[in-house]
Amino acid sequence: MSQLDGSREQWNSRLGFILAAMGSAVGLGNIWRFSYVTGENGGAAFLLIYLLCILLIGLPIIMAEFTIGRRAQSDAVGSFEKLAPGKPWVLAGILGVASAFIILSFYGVVAGWSVFYFVQYLIGGLNASPADGFDGFFVGFISNSWQPLIWQFLFMAFTIGIVFVGVKKGIERANKILMPLLAILVIVLAGYSMTLGGAQDALAFLFSPDWSVLGDLDVYLAALGQAFFSLSLGMGALITYGSYLKKEHKLPGAAASVATLDTLFAVIAGLMIFPAVFAFGIDPGSGAGLAFITLPGIFDNMALGQMYGILFFFLLSAAALSSAVSLLEVAVAYFIRKFDWSRKKASLIIGGLIFLLGVPASLGNGVLGGVSFFGQPDLIDSYDFLASNIFLPLGGLIIALFVGWGWKKAEVLKESDFGNTGLGNTWIFLLRIVAPALILIVFITGLGIF
Ligand code: PHE
Ligand code: NA
Repeated sequence: MSQLDGSREQWNSRLGFILAAMGSAVGLGNIWRFSYVTGENGGAAFLLIYLLCILLIGLPIIMAEFTIGRRAQSDAVGSFEKLAPGKPWVLAGILGVASAFIILSFYGVVAGWSVFYFVQYLIGGLNASPADGFDGFFVGFISNSWQPLIWQFLFMAFTIGIVFVGVKKGIERANKILMPLLAILVIVLAGYSMTLGGAQDALAFLFSPDWSVLGDLDVYLAALGQAFFSLSLGMGALITYGSYLKKEHKLPGAAASVATLDTLFAVIAGLMIFPAVFAFGIDPGSGAGLAFITLPGIFDNMALGQMYGILFFFLLSAAALSSAVSLLEVAVAYFIRKFDWSRKKASLIIGGLIFLLGVPASLGNGVLGGVSFFGQPDLIDSYDFLASNIFLPLGGLIIALFVGWGWKKAEVLKESDFGNTGLGNTWIFLLRIVAPALILIVFITGLGIF
């Protein structure tokens, strides 16, 4: 991005914008979170609900966020204040800034794990199966008090540094090379993982639905939350990125590319992880460590496993970094405008606070092991549940209603680049009726509100 008028930045090109949005979307959500949430929720039937959430709720709301951001040219909160002054829609922006704090606080912890694994592979610490196995190694590491905090700190320092210096353009450029590399690597690893003997079980688990799973109402909320989390949706990250966009860029194509790429990444990551899960006899529902326990097992079986381990965890950490930057940017952009802080001051203070908020999340795997909320197993899951399953869909609901009902339809169609077309009108219908109704139904059933 470059400073055009000294106050607000702009992407230099349409490509820069799409790359940034893709960089935000593709991250730990596709590999770490997608695999363990799919595993916990029974596989194929969950996957189907997840895909429906993306198509009927996610995609229309991505377009809604892009449209709001580009029109308003402001941050998650300011955009609503500008387009609908004095109206309650701004609640979506406020929830968004809160979500950015909560999500980045635990995202930094898990990204820290990824950086740690990268360094372990680099120094050859995982070249042989550890005495207590890869799961013993993982649990030993995350339950330690200081070690994970150090890596979380390091990761957050990188994230803050990038937002501080404003070298996001550098990240987009790097992503242009690193994201395709990660894609190729995940495909190669999926191919290899299929040869380990668990391919049949994995394909059945992922693609042949056990419909009885659908009787469990938690599955719908989990799928909805995963869709919002993975698409970076419902908290104004895409409003903020859209706001750095000039008028001449077309939005619908960008929205479709982001959703498609993110979903492909997740499904292929599933094809990488689950064959190995079944080959090694790991329980698919074993929780948040699934990827960190399974992948080292894959590398352990491979010729040149250390090289694959180094490459994989490096690329995963880089993907996490571009997502973390977008999370921090939501909060920083708001504080810069609202309190007239400099970018440097805002990055340091907000980034520092988010790191501190993440400290208990990290310790929740060890000394704070007994503490949790909302019926979740630990603190990371508690943070994650509140932000991803409640705040993001709620923010998305408000955004859909705002664009669907709170804004003049003719203007929305024009601002979205759809124009008065069949596709545009379908989009409006999804925003007005379908997405809000589905989100409400999932909330009501999944949270047992009635
Ligand atoms: N979408 C990112 C991922 O899948 C996480 C994220 C969520 C980023 C919300 C920004 C906003 O890893
Ligand atoms: Na994602």
